[in-house]
This record gives sequence, structure tokens and C-alpha cells, in this order.
Amino acid sequence: MKTVLDYLKVNQPRFLEELGEFLRFPSISAQPEHRGDLLACAKWLTQHCASIGLTAKLCPTKGNPIVLARTPARSGRRPRVLIYGHYDVQPPDPLELWHSQPFEATRRGRNLFARGSADDKGQLFAHLKAVEAYLKTGTELPCDLIFVFEGEEEVGSESLTPFLRQMRKQLACDAVVVSDGDMPAKDMPALTYGLRGTVALEVTLRGPARDLHSGIFGGSVENPATALCRLLAQMHDAKGRITIPGFYDDVRPLSALERKELRRIFGSEEKYRRMLGVPKLHGEAGYSSIERTVARPTFEINGLTSGYQGPGGKTIVPAWSRAKLTLRIVPGQKPEKVLKSTIAYLKKLCPPTVRMEITDAHGSTPYLVEPTSTHAKAALRALQAGFGKKPVLTREGGSIPIVNDFKQVLGVDTLLLGIALPDANIHSPDERLDLDCFAAGQRMSAWLWQELAR
Ligand code: BES
Ligand code: ZN
Repeated sequence: MKTVLDYLKVNQPRFLEELGEFLRFPSISAQPEHRGDLLACAKWLTQHCASIGLTAKLCPTKGNPIVLARTPARSGRRPRVLIYGHYDVQPPDPLELWHSQPFEATRRGRNLFARGSADDKGQLFAHLKAVEAYLKTGTELPCDLIFVFEGEEEVGSESLTPFLRQMRKQLACDAVVVSDGDMPAKDMPALTYGLRGTVALEVTLRGPARDLHSGIFGGSVENPATALCRLLAQMHDAKGRITIPGFYDDVRPLSALERKELRRIFGSEEKYRRMLGVPKLHGEAGYSSIERTVARPTFEINGLTSGYQGPGGKTIVPAWSRAKLTLRIVPGQKPEKVLKSTIAYLKKLCPPTVRMEITDAHGSTPYLVEPTSTHAKAALRALQAGFGKKPVLTREGGSIPIVNDFKQVLGVDTLLLGIALPDANIHSPDERLDLDCFAAGQRMSAWLWQELAR
């Protein structure tokens, strides 16, 4: 291991330059005009995998290509591990809030700023650099590794599910490793054993056939923006609970042990409040912030649009209003059932004065595993060795839809080993990767192949 660790140590400056190249591609999967950038980014990544000694190919899909790479074929049987990551990123908006260009990686102190630096290009890159260290120093790798990098994670991983089914023989493995999440703090590397799922939908309310003069017609028709505000305001009660009938029926409660451990890991609510910049924290009554975010379901408005948005004013009754909505769901809840009851409830609340349209409805299942397997123990040892700190077990509030398919299609659990910090600003302006976590993540990855083979 000394050879491998030394290699990682001396090559950090080059790794940062390469990561900078990777971060230059505006691989924004939500925006159709960036399809070419996703392809170019995937090609770069394939090429990079080949350059470090992996066998790599670009696999076209109906959407964005999947990059498939593996360690060179060898005889003999060793554990096979699939490492998953995504090269697509969230839109960088609002651009004016960035302190450097989102697609020009910029180093300030111990951070590298760029869209995708933490979610997820930097994290997947840590694994590539670890395997490079083995391959380039001629060190025997105790596992065979398969890398799968997709370009549609931020939009629901639609092409990856059929790809897994179609390739299930070639992708057969003993474990999946994913670094696409957080660790609670710099001195708390973590194995995550639970994620929330999602239900997403877009609701449009249509009123008059066209925008109307609000002086001539206002008062005689329902304003679709007002109707939408009223509708959405009814989704929570005074205690911050979601009002959809039966919504909490299937929610699996936190155990006393989990609550205790989360409290220990989380630190101070006041520090958390300051990090987020809110005047006061808010959420479901009876739960702490960490409990609310990792183990309780939520209903969020992600976008809200109606009427005139330009400079100055415009006296109209808008013809329509629209909300982009997501619910986070937790273990026990099923996306199909939640989607159905949400749509039924929205329809019931919709006044007869507007027409409701619901589109883009989809969902992903929450994830929860017992963190007691031999693989989990190996991961904890690798975290300890890589970070030099005692690792924690935690759950997270974000979603990685594909981990359920790994279980269903490939029959294996996923080791979630996120190396981003909670203040990495993922999905926000000034996204950043902590360079100490990046280096420790590489060491953790290098140790992981030893520990999994033990
Ligand atoms: N990396 C995140 C997921 C994540 C973040 C997991 C923090 C754990 C902690 C991922 O890229 C992501 O943003 N996923 C989407 C999935 C959605 C589009 C279905 C999410 O969680 O919003
Ligand atoms: Zn993301």
C-alpha cells in the first residue's frame, strides 16, 4: 500500500488539473441544448479511463451515453466491485451568485469551486485516481473493478435501468460502491445506510384563454396564480405536517438508537441555521433538523411560475400558473402510491374555476440497508484508514434512484461512501470540493479494495 499511497500523494497537483478539464464540460442533463456537451464530456471520461489503464468504452443510449470501464482482464477469481458515478450536473443558475465561473474550476484555499466539483465529478474522480495508483505502479489489485458512469442521474436515470437489465451478465458483481453524497463533517467520514426517495410532478392551472387586462376583467375570473397559491398553501398544516390523506401511514419511524446517533453526529442546530442563512429553522413539529431531512418525508415547491416576470409591472390576470413539485419519501413509502394519492388530493382541492394539468410525474424508491454486513465492515475499515478518523453510520436526505435497481437487477447492496461536506453547495452557487476530503477519498478507495478482499 505504501507505493499506492505515495503515488497518490505526489500526484495530487496533476489530479487537480485533470479534474479541472473534466469540470469544464457544461454537462447539464436537464437542458436539451447541452446534449452535445454531455456527449463530449462522456468521450473525455472514456478517454481518461483508457489513459489510466482501464478498458473503456462509450455506450450510447436513448439519452446520454454511459461510460463503461473495467480493470484489465486477469485469470483467477477475486471479488468484483461495481463503482457507480454520474458525469451530468445541475444547472448552474443563478449565475450572478457565483464568485468564479461555474465551468472553470477555480482553487481558493483548500477548495476547488465548479459546478460538479462535489456532485459528482470530483467524487467519482477520487475512485479513478485510486485505481490509477494501482495500475500505474504495477501494484496487484485485490478486486476486479467495473466502473459505470451515467449522464442522467440529475434527471432520473432513465437510460441506466434498461442498460443494467441488458448488461446484467457483464455487470454481475459482489458489491456496488457509490460516492455521490455527503459526510457529516471533515472529521466524520461516513457509511450511509439510508437515502430518501422522490416523487416529482408538475402542476399547471389554466384559467382564461389568454392573459387578460386586470382592470377590465379582474374580479370576474379566478386568477390562476392565486388559485395555485391557495392550493399549495393547503399542503401543510400548522404543525408542518403534510395534509395528503394517509400520507404518513407507511412511514417507518426512526429507532431510539438512530435518533441518538443522529443527534451525536449532527452538532448544533444554531450552527446549522447560520450555515443555511435562515432567520429561523422550520419543519415538522417533534423532530430535529437532521431527523427532518434524513428520515421524514417532505413536500417541496421547486419552482413557481405565473404571469409577468420582466422588469417593471404589467397589469394582467395571467392565463396560467405552474409549480414544479417534489416530495421526498422515506423507507416504507412507495413512490407509485404517494404519487397517486398526491394527484388525487391536488385534484380534489382544485377549484372549479381553473383546469388542472399534471405532467412529468415520476418517482424513485427510498433506500435502507442494515449496515452490519461484512462489506459494510470492510468499508468502515477503509474509511478509518483513508481519513484517519473514526467513521460514523448515517442516513441522508438526498436520493440516488439507481441504487434500488442495483439491488433488484444485480442483487447486491450499495456501499454509499459520500465524500462531500454539507457546505459543498451542491445544486447551489459556488459548489465546491474540499481538497482534503478529495485526497482522503482517494486513499479510502485504495484501501477499500484491500478490505473488501480480506
Ligand atoms: N448527489 C445527489 C444525491 C445526494 C445528495 C445523496 C446528498 C445524498 C446526499 C444526487 O446527484 C442528486 O441530486 N440526486 C437527485 C435525484 C433526483 C433528481 C431523482 C436528488 O436527490 O434530488
Ligand atoms: Zn445532484
